[in-house]
Amino acid sequence: MVGIAQNLCGVALVGSGSATPSQSLSNEELGHRVETSDSWIKARTGIGSRCVIGPDETLVQLSHRAGLSALSMAGWDPESIDLILLATSSPDDLFGSAPKIQALLAAKNAVAFDLTAACSGFLFALVTAAQFLRNGSFRRVLVIGADQLSSWVNWDDRTTCVLFGDGAGAVAMEAVDASQDDLLGYLLRSDGSRGDSLQLPQIRDHLPLVSGTSHQRGGFDPIQMNGQEVYKFAVREVPALLEKLLNETQISADSIDWLLLHQANQRILDAVAERFSIPSQKVLSNLGSYGNTSAATIPLMLDQAVKDGRVSSGDLIATSGFGAGLSWGAALIRWKGPT
Ligand code: UT7
Repeated sequence: MVGIAQNLCGVALVGSGSATPSQSLSNEELGHRVETSDSWIKARTGIGSRCVIGPDETLVQLSHRAGLSALSMAGWDPESIDLILLATSSPDDLFGSAPKIQALLAAKNAVAFDLTAACSGFLFALVTAAQFLRNGSFRRVLVIGADQLSSWVNWDDRTTCVLFGDGAGAVAMEAVDASQDDLLGYLLRSDGSRGDSLQLPQIRDHLPLVSGTSHQRGGFDPIQMNGQEVYKFAVREVPALLEKLLNETQISADSIDWLLLHQANQRILDAVAERFSIPSQKVLSNLGSYGNTSAATIPLMLDQAVKDGRVSSGDLIATSGFGAGLSWGAALIRWKGPT
């Protein structure tokens, strides 16, 4: 690979976009399918409704819409994109969906591939993109976080089906001079030894092949989650990692303009905010309307807050993704895009 921007080792976030499915499902409606109630779901999670991809939509289409919107905000020609990174655990195609988004965007000069890290996927993809930008390999990257977990929940299991929704969000990232670097710091973590507490495992179904051999049929069981374990993991590890990051970057919690966490549960957002004495007006949440959209939550929330005028150019955002793997990460970002 030929380096094209050797002197530009900073990273700027210059555009955002998002897209959600047209079908919305309220807590009341879900109560017709499983034994639950609007009051239980709202009190335990903050979720009021979620969007679910219907027969006329696909994750690639949502991702394309989110990507187009980010390109439009950034003012980029699709042909100027060098890399499209799709963070997803639920691609339309297990071989990868990013190239299909590349084709729809007509980003013919971009290489495109998927990256999987469940609900931490967008943050991991953003940091991965930053490496390509900082080392001079690429100048413009489109990072998309998108998931369709509605395909992978058991809609008769009230402990999981009430939590998840579908969506896509995108961020346009550009190589800039080091003095204008907007990725002020990041930390990423994995702990596979605790992975059993949240899984979307392959089915264990072996079928006979020939001469006493067998093969495993492809397919996945629905999402399995030990909610309490994952909750405890999130409220312990996310503040610990954010604190380490603030210490390492010598940035004080007071200077954070926005806390932008993975949207899994309002109680988790509140607990992390309380730990850093961040007032609730600085905590971004769209759980009420979208639930947990996995890799999409952070860019979806960011785009909504940029477009409704809450996040302005120059704002400091503390963000953290966490979930299956187990995986978690944190980053401090300055939003540069037009608002
Ligand atoms: O994106 C990946 C990251 N994921 C997360 O961060 C999820 C973390 N976990 C959580 O957010 C919470 O643990 C949940 C929202 C999943 C569950 O809340 P909880 O306060 O931990 O509830 P619980 O699992 O302790 O269940 C309490 C009770 C149980 O009944 P009993 O045993 O006390 O009789 C459940 O059966 O609530 C019951 N329950 C429900 N009731 C009505 C569980 N789900 C429901 C439901 N409606 N949907």
